[in-house]
Amino acid sequence: MDLKKYILNVKDFPIDGVDFKDVTPLLNDADAFAYVIDEMAKFVIECGANVVVAPEARGFLFASAVAYKSHTRFVLVRKPGKLPREVIDIEYTLEYGTNHQQMHKGDIKPGDKIVIIDDVLATGGTIEAIVKLVEMQDGKVEGVSFLIDLPALHSEDLLQEYKVQKLVKY
Ligand code: PRP
Ligand code: MG
Repeated sequence: MDLKKYILNVKDFPIDGVDFKDVTPLLNDADAFAYVIDEMAKFVIECGANVVVAPEARGFLFASAVAYKSHTRFVLVRKPGKLPREVIDIEYTLEYGTNHQQMHKGDIKPGDKIVIIDDVLATGGTIEAIVKLVEMQDGKVEGVSFLIDLPALHSEDLLQEYKVQKLVKY
């Protein structure tokens, strides 16, 4: 399936110089969305994972459905102030700005096998922070899966030690 038909490029959003990838047309198309969920769920199963981890907001759009399809647990990574119980916190750098990511302490059990899912890989700051959050809790990252890769924005050797799925590259 040509997924690029369902991803729109929006120039200078949210700030000048950023090419924003709008995935809402893909979510608006039942066949395209199902294709993406099926491909990601196959990858999760191939990785032998029992947990899917994803960051808000756009990672949630895909990871919840993938967890259902692959019958794995879903662990949330959220921005500060959203999770009600004790959290593990990490600071990270985004394509635009810096922020923190948080996960409920204890959501990852030692020995859990994890696939991290997100919509876009840009600088890699977000995914590197989530890998650290998982590893701080003795989880094992088996793979990482992205709908979209923007290879110009990150180094070639990023994520070399993991199985990586990228459904679309620009
Ligand atoms: C966006 C995107 C990825 C991340 C990729 O999230 O959804 O999660 O940036 O960038 P990076 O590889 O440079 O870290 P963002 O937090 O901007 O917005 P969202 O809450 O809409 O997902
Ligand atoms: Mg995001």
